[in-house]
Formats: sequence, structure tokens, C-alpha cells
Amino acid sequence: MRAFTFVVVAAGLGTALCDKHYMFSGFFSGSTIAGLEFDDNSLSLSVVNNISTQADSGSKWIALDARNQNLYVATTGYIQSYAITSNLSLTYETNVSLSSNCSNANFIAAASTAPYAVFGIPYSSGCSGLAISVDDEGTLKSAFANVTYDSSAGVHGIALSSDNNFIYSADDMGNAVWSHKYDNVTGTIEELQKIDAPTGANPRHLTVHPNGNWVYIIYEELSQLAVYSRNGTTGILSDTNTTFSLLPAGMLLESAIIPSAQTLLLTIVISGFTNTSSYWADEVFVSNATSQSPKYLITGTRSRTTSLPGYVSAFALDADTGAITEQLFLLPTTSSGGSANAVGPAKFSEEYFAITDSGANFVEVWKIDGGSAEAVSHVGMDSGPANVVWYS
Ligand SMILES: *[C@@H]1O[C@H](CO)[C@@H](O)[C@H](O)[C@H]1NC(C)=O
Ligand SMILES: *[C@@H]1O[C@H](CO)[C@@H](O)[C@H](O)[C@H]1NC(C)=O
Ligand SMILES: *[C@@H]1O[C@H](CO)[C@@H](O)[C@H](O)[C@H]1NC(C)=O
Ligand SMILES: *[C@@H]1O[C@H](CO)[C@@H](O)[C@H](O)[C@H]1NC(C)=O
Ligand SMILES: *[C@@H]1O[C@H](CO)[C@@H](O)[C@H](O)[C@H]1NC(C)=O
Ligand SMILES: *[C@@H]1O[C@H](CO)[C@@H](O)[C@H](O)[C@H]1NC(C)=O
Ligand SMILES: *[C@@H]1O[C@H](CO)[C@@H](O)[C@H](O)[C@H]1NC(C)=O
Ligand SMILES: *[C@@H]1O[C@H](CO)[C@@H](O)[C@H](O)[C@H]1NC(C)=O
Ligand SMILES: *[C@@H]1O[C@H](CO)[C@@H](O)[C@H](O)[C@H]1NC(C)=O
Ligand SMILES: *[C@@H]1O[C@H](CO)[C@@H](O)[C@H](O)[C@H]1NC(C)=O
Repeated sequence: MRAFTFVVVAAGLGTALCDKHYMFSGFFSGSTIAGLEFDDNSLSLSVVNNISTQADSGSKWIALDARNQNLYVATTGYIQSYAITSNLSLTYETNVSLSSNCSNANFIAAASTAPYAVFGIPYSSGCSGLAISVDDEGTLKSAFANVTYDSSAGVHGIALSSDNNFIYSADDMGNAVWSHKYDNVTGTIEELQKIDAPTGANPRHLTVHPNGNWVYIIYEELSQLAVYSRNGTTGILSDTNTTFSLLPAGMLLESAIIPSAQTLLLTIVISGFTNTSSYWADEVFVSNATSQSPKYLITGTRSRTTSLPGYVSAFALDADTGAITEQLFLLPTTSSGGSANAVGPAKFSEEYFAITDSGANFVEVWKIDGGSAEAVSHVGMDSGPANVVWYS
């Protein structure tokens, strides 16, 4: 088995031993998408390609298809489809338009198996998500179904089960989590359940453990990670009522702005005060979405104040059950994160992930080392990056 693995890698088919890795970064404004190269030997990170696109109002969310041939881009009014060229640039192919009252294209999830449906989500109250078909090359064709919610819903992020038969939606405006069943033969989508989240939670993004047992959910407003268990057959979720804080226990320096020293003392004694309203958690991903037993769950939390850092955390996952065994670290990010602090797990190693920061405009690569992590490279950008996806 070892020898076989070695032969495959030596033949150049494996990516694990390559030194240089490529990723795309979208931006909150402008029409450029950047191509970045990360060298895991020298730990250098640089912009190697400024790609002009037809996404004139930014690329709030970008997603690769499972076959690594296309980049899908959420830009106001449209979900666009770009082919990745051999020189790792992008060629615009098609778009699927959103209705004028649901034009805030905000999130994309691409199925990992045939027929490779793509789900595009506008973020505005009452809006449906669109299920979009693709051609043989993975280019977006047309919307074939709606993922419907109710009039109070505003879904910010979705995730698919690894068999792509179920869609889970984080309803930030409606403070709920939705489950839908997707039938890839009939092309129909039906609602399974809506679970109200705890008061003031505001679910933002979520991820399904590849083994199907868990859905991990970011409560944006509470800056918490919530654990929902999942029935692998029915796809039904149950809130386990287990949450982990994505902020340190007592953020006392911040409380120092409270005028009276006595008030501060009182606050410390009573509750170990944490001003969660200064932060908003945003992102969660597993370190390897194609593995049945990814090692880590990685999260990002933004600070609402550009002068204060956000936070990044990782959790160890049990190799058999996928349950969280330990919160490995909770570290301040280099800057606030701005609207981003979006984490993007690398393809070549579960120990590496990227972070985007639209407060100070940079992309960083971080490396997990046992129970800690650190930024190993940093590149400044001209404007605010939204999220990155690793191509290699
Ligand atoms: C990308 O654009 C930035 C500024 O607009 C410039 O500094 C950089 O050299 C460009 N990089 C490439 C590879 O074209
Ligand atoms: C990449 O290839 C395309 C044609 O496929 C070409 O138009 C473009 O100029 C090339 N870009 C770079 C940066 O070489
Ligand atoms: C979307 O597609 C339509 C139809 O092909 C095209 O006319 C329009 O320019 C495209 N717009 C964007 C922003 O992609
Ligand atoms: C559709 O989903 C089923 C059930 O998960 C799967 O077996 C099948 O491969 C999928 N794809 C197509 C094209 O039917
Ligand atoms: C958007 O407009 C369409 C058609 O005008 C309407 O059917 C739909 O209910 C509207 N959606 C929202 C969220 O207002
Ligand atoms: C999605 O819903 C809209 C608004 O209700 C409707 O006009 C459209 O036909 C639906 N699309 C599909 C593919 O069912
Ligand atoms: C999943 O749901 C089915 C149908 O309700 C039930 O029979 C089964 O026991 C459930 N599985 C688990 C692991 O709870
Ligand atoms: C979670 O809390 C709700 C509301 O208090 C309760 O109904 C439910 O039984 C709890 N679930 C678990 C798994 O403890
Ligand atoms: C919490 O932080 C927010 C934003 O930084 C600030 O406006 C608010 O006054 C703080 N609240 C308390 C009680 O310190
Ligand atoms: C992710 O998991 C897949 C499937 O087990 C494996 O082939 C791949 O090497 C893993 N990637 C990393 C970076 O560990």
C-alpha cells in the first residue's frame, strides 16, 4: 500500500508533495478575482494573477466545482460561471439571473457528485435559493428548482450532505435552521423541517460532517459554534443544545471603556463579562470535506471594530464518530477580519488554511501545529477579499 502510494505521487498525480499551491480570492467590490500562489517550502504567498471578470459589483462568494474545472461567482443579480483555463485564469461562460427583489447573490454550494447541481443563495428576506443545472463541462445552465423558505427567512449560507441529497440552510434573518431533501432524479426539492434557533443566535454558515452524523452551525450573533446531530437516513436534524464560544471567556480590556471602575469590578465578579455584541462569528469548515474523518473543524469570528482583532478557532474531531473532542485553540486574528475572516481549508494538507481580511485588506495562510496555530504568510490586497478557494 505504501509503495503504491509512493508510485502515484512520484507520477505527479498527487498534490500532497507539490511545493506550490494555487487559490482564487473573490472581493466585496470591484470586478477582479485574484489568483494567489502559496509555496509551502518557502512559506511565500503572492498574487500571481489579477483576473478581470464580468462581476462588476464584486464577488461576494466564490465556489469551485467538484471537478476543479469551473469557478462559480455570486455577484449582485447573478450567479456566474467561469471556466478555469490551463494557465489558471478564468473565462466567463454564462450566468443565471436572480429576481430583481432577490438580487443580493451571497452564497454558492456545488454538489460533489453527478449531476453536479449548484445552489445559489440570495441574502434578503423571503428569498428562495436557486438550484441550477450544469452541462457536461460543469458550466451553469439554468435554474430548475427553488429552495423555499418563509417570508421571515433570510438565508446566509447553506451546506450539502456529502451524498448531496440534503440541503441545510442557516437562516440568519429568521433565526432558524432549515433542512430540505433534494431528489437528483426528479430535480425536486422539498422542505423537511425548520428548527427555530435559540433567541438571538442568528445562524449564518454551517457545515455537514462528511460522515453525515453532525451539522456544525455558526451562531453569528452569539459568536458560538452549535452542534446539531443528524439522522443519516432521514436527514433530520436535532439541536443537541451544545455550543462552544468562539470568543475568549472574559474580554476585560474591552470592558475597560466602562466609565466607572466599580462597575468594571462588579462585572468581572458577576459574569466574567464578554461583550459579544462587539463580534460576529461567520465561518465554519471541516479541514477535509472529502474525507470520512477530517481532523479539524475550523471557525472564524470577526470583530466589528477594525482596531480590535477577530478570532480563529479549531476543534479536533473524533475519527470514528465525527464528534468534537476538544477545542484546540482560540486565537486572535492579525486584524479584525472586516466583513470577512472567512477561513478556507487547504486541499494539500489539513494543517493549512487561508483567512481573508477585508478590514485591513489581506489574505493569510495559517498553519495548525498541535494545539495551536499561527499565520505563516501574509499578502496585502488592493481591496477587501471576501472568500478564497484552493484550486491545488
Ligand atoms: C495585481 O494588481 C496589483 C495592484 O493592482 C499589482 O500591485 C500587482 O503587481 C498585480 N499582480 C499581477 C501578478 O499582475
Ligand atoms: C491565459 O490564457 C488565456 C487564454 O486561454 C489568455 O487570454 C490570457 O491572456 C492568459 N493569461 C495569462 C495571465 O497568461
Ligand atoms: C448575464 O447573461 C445575460 C444573457 O446571456 C447577458 O446578457 C448578461 O450580460 C450577463 N450579465 C452578467 C452580469 O453576467
Ligand atoms: C443521485 O443520487 C443517488 C442517491 O444518492 C446516487 O446514487 C446517484 O449516483 C446520484 N446521481 C445520479 C446522476 O443519479
Ligand atoms: C419577488 O418578486 C416576485 C415576482 O414579482 C414575487 O413572486 C416574490 O414573492 C417576491 N419575493 C420577495 C421575497 O419579495
Ligand atoms: C422559483 O420561484 C419563482 C417565484 O415563485 C418562480 O417564478 C419560478 O418559476 C420558480 N423556479 C423554478 C425553477 O421552479
Ligand atoms: C433515523 O430515523 C429513522 C426513521 O425515523 C429511525 O428508524 C432511525 O432509528 C433513526 N436513526 C438514528 C440513528 O436515530
Ligand atoms: C434542548 O433544549 C430544548 C429546549 O429547552 C429541549 O426541548 C430539548 O429537549 C433539548 N434537547 C436536548 C438534546 O437536550
Ligand atoms: C459592546 O461593544 C459595542 C461595540 O464595540 C459597544 O458599542 C458597546 O457599548 C459595548 N457594550 C458594553 C456594555 O460595553
Ligand atoms: C482528504 O481525504 C481524501 C479522502 O480520504 C484523501 O484522498 C485526501 O488525501 C485527503 N486530503 C488531505 C489534505 O488530507
